[in-house]
Amino acid sequence: MSEALANLLNETRQFPPPAELAANANVTADAYAEAAEDRLAFWERQAGRLHWTRQWDQVLDWSNAPFAKWFVGGQLNVAYNCLDRHVEAGRGDKVAIHWEGEPGDTRTVTYADLHKLTCQAANALTELGVTAGDRVAIYLPMIPEAAVAMLACARIGATHSVVFGGFSADALTNRIQDASAKVVITADGGFRRGKPSALKPTVDEAVANCPSVEHVLVVRRTGEEVAWSAKDHWWHETVETASPEHTAQPFDAEHPLYILYTSGTTARPKGILHTTGGYLTQTSYTTHAIFDLKPETDVYWCTADIGWVTGHSYIVYGPLSNGATQVMYEGTPDTPHKGRFWEIVDKYKVTLLYTAPTLIRTMMKWGEDIPAGYDLSSLRLLGSVGEPINPEAWIWYRQHVGRGELPIVDTWWQTETGAIMISPLPGVTEAKPGSAMTALPGIVADVVDDQGQSVPNGGGGYLVLREPWPSMLRTIWGDDNRFIETYWSRFGAGANNGDDWVYFAGDGAKKDDDGHIWLLGRVDDVMLVSGHNISTTEVESALVSHPSVAEAAVVGATDPTTGQAIVAFAIPRGSTDISGEAGEQLIADLRNHVAKTLGPIAKPRQIMLVPELPKTRSGKIMRRLLRDVAENRSLGDVTTLQDSSVMDLISSGMGGGK
Ligand code: WT7
Repeated sequence: MSEALANLLNETRQFPPPAELAANANVTADAYAEAAEDRLAFWERQAGRLHWTRQWDQVLDWSNAPFAKWFVGGQLNVAYNCLDRHVEAGRGDKVAIHWEGEPGDTRTVTYADLHKLTCQAANALTELGVTAGDRVAIYLPMIPEAAVAMLACARIGATHSVVFGGFSADALTNRIQDASAKVVITADGGFRRGKPSALKPTVDEAVANCPSVEHVLVVRRTGEEVAWSAKDHWWHETVETASPEHTAQPFDAEHPLYILYTSGTTARPKGILHTTGGYLTQTSYTTHAIFDLKPETDVYWCTADIGWVTGHSYIVYGPLSNGATQVMYEGTPDTPHKGRFWEIVDKYKVTLLYTAPTLIRTMMKWGEDIPAGYDLSSLRLLGSVGEPINPEAWIWYRQHVGRGELPIVDTWWQTETGAIMISPLPGVTEAKPGSAMTALPGIVADVVDDQGQSVPNGGGGYLVLREPWPSMLRTIWGDDNRFIETYWSRFGAGANNGDDWVYFAGDGAKKDDDGHIWLLGRVDDVMLVSGHNISTTEVESALVSHPSVAEAAVVGATDPTTGQAIVAFAIPRGSTDISGEAGEQLIADLRNHVAKTLGPIAKPRQIMLVPELPKTRSGKIMRRLLRDVAENRSLGDVTTLQDSSVMDLISSGMGGGK
């Protein structure tokens, strides 16, 4: 990886926090010092932000590493922490969710409403025979019932497994079978891109192959007709008629809270298991610290879907445990028009916005006139998650959404980490565009070389976590060996029989001269060109820094001379002329631009101008498919693509050559 360092983008801009935010920040620089002095005592204090019915006996039991136990002996109820305690404190009338349906219908759900619905759902699930430890699959659109279903499971100690509503019957079947789910909670459908998109038929297809499923609970959302079987129950006839009285039972800190399957580009999906006390501690603390959430005055909006970990940690558990008021939106950002997101920010006076680089780049492509048409003055902090955010997109976000003055928190974490791990603190950090900056207080991250040795500042290699953290995954559901193999066997004790266990995140990273961390993408996305390691992210960033490029994806294709060659796919900005000679000229300019920015070794062999890029539903570019194109192969599995017609567009609309 060290070769990539010669190619580092020379990003030296730095943006200090706004003075007012710094002066009133929830968390100050002291947190770093406190955590450095005694890491476990620090996390113990953060656990104290929650309501426990039994105090823990031990903060961390790492004696059976890498299987961790946090807050050993402690007991709590997650739903109680997210709902009851706010209602009991007299905040029942406070809005928990401003829900906005795609067609424009709305619901205002207070903490008292959410509490009542969750108690009813807990009673209904109990009535259907669900008990603590049972698994419940949730396959819902972005409606308040999704949060209710998760919280109801947590309330009765059932383990939820949320499956993203865009996944196919096969994907749903595998996930239900892997966890032997007893109940599925779904809806007739949801609204996507201006029309009803059915869910129930997919569930019917899956359940036919899943003997473990005894009951299916169906929320009526679109009103479309659905097939009905003996296992089916309408939510409004079951949940909404159940008793609203329910007393939350405490569960052990290590009681399983949920399983969430990571997409995995090639292998069988992994069921990531999260548990109760440590998970809630870290999601709750990070929401408070990184978004500087002030529950009395802020309106928070995380644009993720509940089917991803971001939705679990930063729509449901983090914000609700802090008593936040948030926006939840059902649909797509361009329905019915491309200003939909900004219209929502304007309408609900959103103050804290958490979204993904892929969205920001899409907004860039659509042009800054669109956000400029709305009043975004309520915003006071912006967040980013999901992939490296290139400096161009960072600056655009700050300029055109953040009035050139708002702090941006670029938050690095994974489904496996459960909560944010590396991020600026908005009242403390002088952020650099494109860098996630610093491990949070209480988190020990490092960048190591092939041998697992910590690299000096200015060096690059693999991102690792050197100490266990409260919201860490506890295992892969049903596969402890794969858990050890995937995450703990590359470096540290798992590799050399030592006693220091080191978590391998699978991401390439570098430390700049100040020791700040820059993420370079998955290590599988590093290309080896004539013996030089070059990160796809760096070449993509270089391309996007050209004024005519809106978005870019880069892959390494087998090359007889250089081992791998760099092949780039670039989406030109709206008004750019790419016909005939103009297109050829642009391609030549871009190749030179990359060579000038990163060095001649990084000059792409080939650049193709394309109208779209293939993305998963969570917005990650599917480089595997682009490699198929670059290597002239027939396409592999396209079932996890967000929009499967994209590959036709790319194959037919390809311009440019060598
Ligand atoms: C992978 C985890 C974390 C919730 C959404 C994704 C990439 C995530 C960043 C960031 C650079 C990032 C990493 C990571 N990633 N956030 N701020 N900067 N890369 O969860 O699907 O489990 O993916 O997303 O490659 O390993 P996930």
